[in-house]
Amino acid sequence: MSLALEQGLSRPGSSSVRCLPTFVRHMPSGKEQGKYLALDLGGTNFRVMVVELLGSPQKQPLITVRKYPIPVAVMSGSGEELFDHIALCMLRFLSEIQLHPENMALGFTFSFPCEQSKLNSATLTQWTKGFSCSGMVGEDVCALLRRSLDKQGLGGIKVCALLNDTTGCLLSCSLRESRCQVGLIVGTGCNACYVENCRNIKAIPGELEGDMIVNTEWGAFGEKGEMDFIRTKWDRVVDQASINPGQQIFEKMISGMYLGALVRQVLLELVAQGLLFQGVNCQRLTLCQDSFETRHICEVENDPLGENDRCRMAMREVLGHNQVISPLDCYAIRLVCEEISRRACMVLAAGLAGLLRRLNLKDAVIAVDGTLIRCHPLFTLIMAKKITQLMGKGYKFELRLARDGSGLGAAIMAAVQANRDE
Ligand code: BG6
Ligand code: GLC
Repeated sequence: MSLALEQGLSRPGSSSVRCLPTFVRHMPSGKEQGKYLALDLGGTNFRVMVVELLGSPQKQPLITVRKYPIPVAVMSGSGEELFDHIALCMLRFLSEIQLHPENMALGFTFSFPCEQSKLNSATLTQWTKGFSCSGMVGEDVCALLRRSLDKQGLGGIKVCALLNDTTGCLLSCSLRESRCQVGLIVGTGCNACYVENCRNIKAIPGELEGDMIVNTEWGAFGEKGEMDFIRTKWDRVVDQASINPGQQIFEKMISGMYLGALVRQVLLELVAQGLLFQGVNCQRLTLCQDSFETRHICEVENDPLGENDRCRMAMREVLGHNQVISPLDCYAIRLVCEEISRRACMVLAAGLAGLLRRLNLKDAVIAVDGTLIRCHPLFTLIMAKKITQLMGKGYKFELRLARDGSGLGAAIMAAVQANRDE
């Protein structure tokens, strides 16, 4: 990972870890104030929000937020449909809270890989996670958003900044903690960003002084075979069944979109060998690709040791009927879940150690968010233990939860940018 990061920075386009410049060069001072709009697309929930910043790091921003579903058909429809849907949600939100948005600045968290030439212009390079809308790769996402907002009569909103969820997470944490230099998301996808000296980011045209946040897009690590030595046959099956085979290899070993599918593959093998459910038919598990979800792993591992109630409940949902699940079945299922989530923690810790070595900080604060980090009972603990082991006992670091921070980060960036424009 250290090498891939170095290569991504120094020879743009040559590494699986892209290290994309974000053009976020100014950290919030905490003194930003006023009302800002934010959109947050790419995680489990699509959120629209208005954030009132109160001009002091001690004062908690006031956030009004609504979550809107993105229908599966829209996730794989056309780009125009997606953005029209987003703009319509914004319209509904504004009329519900009776806010007139003319001239309001908006920050857009768009959690996919984008090449940026400035803060408010970003070209989508590829879709990741469950999205595959047509006609968007190579397009300017901010321009598409402006066009759709315009169609809804919301052309007065100023799209000031587009950022990745990792960047939003880092910024929201840095509002109160100036030592924060890394943002980590472990949710539907997995990615990290960090603060780098502009001189080392060769993808930036011209010469810029100071620092900039780099979006590593490290979920793609492994696309050049770097992870082959530990990938299993189950990893390959899950990869092949995904909408982007051969891509996002690191992410597919770690994030919420894939861990459930990995467990399912191992369970299917145990069933085929007659080692689970006393050989009884498990049609739903066999036929339904999404039957075992990552939230089921969290349920199973949330059972107190020696108890199986949550495991049984989760498996009833997975199997879809009242099948008898023996204590031995529960033991085996738990073992599989633990091994797969433990491996995710270890692999992730190794990636983070690679990044932390590069940063060479004495006292690192890492802003973290994402459903897996929040819902898995031991994820943070196991990961932290492994980081300590890899970095050495004397190394000080802190994993700080920035709950739903990405949207807040977008609003903060809109504020920083709007103030600079004035
Ligand atoms: C949150 C953000 O901080 O974390 C989302 O607001 C982000 O935009 C998310 O994508 C990641 O979590 P998940 O689990 O919803 O993918
Ligand atoms: C995927 C996206 C990345 C995002 C991450 C976490 O890896 O490519 O941009 O940050 O998921 O949501």
